Amino acid sequence: MKKLAIFVSGNGTNMENLLCRIREGKVRAEASLVVSDNPGAYALERAKKFGVESVVVDRKKFDSKENFEAEIQRRLAAKKIDYVILAGFMRILSPSFVRAYRDRILNIHPALLPDFPGAHAIQEAWEAKVRKTGVTVHFVDEGVDTGPVILQREVAVEANDTLESLEKKIHAVEYEIYPEAINLVLKGEVK
Ligand code: GAR
Repeated sequence: MKKLAIFVSGNGTNMENLLCRIREGKVRAEASLVVSDNPGAYALERAKKFGVESVVVDRKKFDSKENFEAEIQRRLAAKKIDYVILAGFMRILSPSFVRAYRDRILNIHPALLPDFPGAHAIQEAWEAKVRKTGVTVHFVDEGVDTGPVILQREVAVEANDTLESLEKKIHAVEYEIYPEAINLVLKGEVK
């Protein structure tokens, strides 16, 4: 079975959802490692509940991004990780990291890319008063939220939506399509 490392920075609901799908046998992979750049990430508590090994690699403890990423790469190599699954990981990986895991890093983004890239996509879509937004799962390339799209699903913004209700709808779609997209990649059904 392919070995996944799930990268998180915060709450970790996408990670937890994926761990549930793996436990149910709906995603056939091994969750070998959770990597957090944030020692306070609630995702770490969630990982513990599932008995998945986690490691904190705190950017503040490294004098450069290069050394920070080198430590992450050492951890991945030690676990023979096949795929990196970004699930609310709020750092940009450098081109050399991306090259080392070319076509093996997936990201979930809460908008219909190329619209609203970056860290505040739901809020920005809401403020732009768009009538539809959505969720994108894509491979990570050297740009920010620019890599090839694996799956995208629309979410309508209804007249009675609030920012909170829109966030809820987007998260619900994330929980559907991230496992689906990971399965497509694991089965070799995406190029
Ligand atoms: C998710 O909505 C994910 O799409 C978003 O962060 C949230 C993490 O939630 N990612 C980005 O905005 C990346 N640019 P979670 O920690 O509960 O899974």
